[in-house]
Amino acid sequence: MSDPLTSPEARLFHPSNEFAAAAHVGSLDAYHKLHQRSLDDPEGFWGEVAAELTWSKPWDRVLNADNAPFFKWFEGGRTNITVNCLDRHIEAGQGDKTAILWEGEPGDTRELTYAELLQEVCRFANVLKGLGVGKGDSVAIYLPMIPELAVAVLACARIGAVHSVIFAGFSAESVRDRVLDASSKCVITADGSWRRGKELLLKNIVDDGVEGCDCVEQVLVIQRHLAKEPFAHNWTKGRDHWFHEEVARVSDECPAEDMDAEDMLFLLYTSGSTGKPKGIMHTVGGYMVYTYLTTKLTFDLKPNDVYWCTADIGWITGHSYIVYGPMANAATQVMYEGAPNFPDEARFWDIVEKYHVSIFYTAPTAIRAFMKWGDAFPQKHDLSSLRLLGTVGEPINPEAWMWYHRVIGGERCPIVDTWWQTETGGHMITSLPGAVPAKPGSATLPFPGVDAAVIDESGEEVERGLLAIRKPWPGMLRGIWGDEERFVNTYWCKWGGKYYFPGDGAIRDEDGYIWVTGRVDDVVNVSGHRIGTAELESVCVAHPAVAESAVIGVPHEIKGQGLVAFVIIRTGAEGEESSWRTELMAMVDEKIGKFARPEKIVFSVDLPKTRSGKIMRRLLRDIAEDRPLGNVTTLADPSIVEQIKVKYQERA
Ligand code: PRX
Repeated sequence: MSDPLTSPEARLFHPSNEFAAAAHVGSLDAYHKLHQRSLDDPEGFWGEVAAELTWSKPWDRVLNADNAPFFKWFEGGRTNITVNCLDRHIEAGQGDKTAILWEGEPGDTRELTYAELLQEVCRFANVLKGLGVGKGDSVAIYLPMIPELAVAVLACARIGAVHSVIFAGFSAESVRDRVLDASSKCVITADGSWRRGKELLLKNIVDDGVEGCDCVEQVLVIQRHLAKEPFAHNWTKGRDHWFHEEVARVSDECPAEDMDAEDMLFLLYTSGSTGKPKGIMHTVGGYMVYTYLTTKLTFDLKPNDVYWCTADIGWITGHSYIVYGPMANAATQVMYEGAPNFPDEARFWDIVEKYHVSIFYTAPTAIRAFMKWGDAFPQKHDLSSLRLLGTVGEPINPEAWMWYHRVIGGERCPIVDTWWQTETGGHMITSLPGAVPAKPGSATLPFPGVDAAVIDESGEEVERGLLAIRKPWPGMLRGIWGDEERFVNTYWCKWGGKYYFPGDGAIRDEDGYIWVTGRVDDVVNVSGHRIGTAELESVCVAHPAVAESAVIGVPHEIKGQGLVAFVIIRTGAEGEESSWRTELMAMVDEKIGKFARPEKIVFSVDLPKTRSGKIMRRLLRDIAEDRPLGNVTTLADPSIVEQIKVKYQERA
């Protein structure tokens, strides 16, 4: 956990004079002025940013807050986000600029200029149209990190279809839940993908996932399989189509659908503290303006940069900071398909050297893994092209920050620690690297336009409390698909509907720097991936031998947090712990995906419950973190915690 009081590293890290002099925002004073102006006159500020982009019709009103929390941005404005990500650059003479430098895990490569990318997007869009997909239709995308993933996303946006990207590590059941919730008409997938030298057969997962889903009319399959031997596919005639066959028949021009600023751009599912994953809704105009400006200022992006974000497009980081933000800024970027340790632990540094990457954006969990693998791997490579580093997804511990700064950044690259969420669309708290000196472990100060505060339950500003956002911003979510009530209750109820509640705790230090301490709800951040404890509990209780379960997050050296499941077996259930454990793990793989596997499954006779039957997870966390147990007098059976403790320690 990041905490200014316990941090072993209290120094301020300033950008070099040279970095600051060339930066878009080059001093703390300039940042404060910009931030103050953006809060004093949000409509003027965001209107000016939006005017840097192309609109077919200007907006009538920058912000409509009449029906809060159902805010509208750039009302009446019309545009298409792909025009701003592609056509705009070609019209400005940048058609030959490299957009994507792609590398597959086996070492195959592809390079696409902006002109080529537009052509690919238009062709893909025409294939979708040919399959009957049009404006407002929902399209699920389940693809590996191949260029076609970015192209498919943009192709949907081109024709006004709503994309719902499903990370390709999710299981068939997770695909099904998302496809059904969004009523996806078309699913785009690939025959396979590469991960640590092994092929993952994605089409087969989609087949299982969409079986019996009446909404799915078409499955479009991209050929990625490289081996000589073809592998067996089920092929549902009339439903399944090879992309390479369809694309051979279409034109490479496709006019961009004229979209209203508040038309939906995409749905992206994320975990909440209760119930099933929620489809976070983002719309065209505000999201476009927000990802455009955050990319430009947070990464201090310049025309000659080679930018690399190591996230997967299946998560929000890839949507905002691989697809839309960088492309709206005509960035040249690296895209990589596979694992960081294939064929060895130097793969990322090999890529940085080969493509002269200047901006590198990754997650603390990856940094901790690199640290563990040792300095020798990065030191084998020339990393002198790097000028800026970034992190995202979870709090970074100061030790990992210092290692990143020293070994990867050569003590010369500023580090931006970006706090944000699927719901926020883009960066909310982050330093602007030429202006705001960094403190290891703190996301520092709010982005322009963001009114962030640390407050208590009553709304008073405090040093340690809950993070709150007190003003709307253009990249904000517009709702949860199909569940307006959950949207209002989750995010807008805490402070009488006035402020946005992100679900994180935070500390504000004497310089006004914000230190995000982690979730305060039942969401766990495993390797930067959000998993609701309720989701894992419902997997456990689906096992016939399981009566009850409670899942908690625990600190984990590499992943940041890991999951521990406490499970109670039904009286008289047949079987033994080792086989139940194996079966439960297999069920997690099947129902969510391997990345959600718990670190430990502890079988116990009961759970610590109050007399009214409420499970006291706090005590389970005390056991897991080996802390003195808090107050147990309210428990129905206080002796139960000692028994659980013994069981927990047996699994150490
Ligand atoms: O707890 C915060 C943590 O990740 C959550 C958002 O997760 P997700 O929607 O999956 O988006 C991840 C990528 C933006 C937040 O509620 N989080 C994200 N970035 C940081 C962070 N915690 C601390 N510091 C960060 N830089």
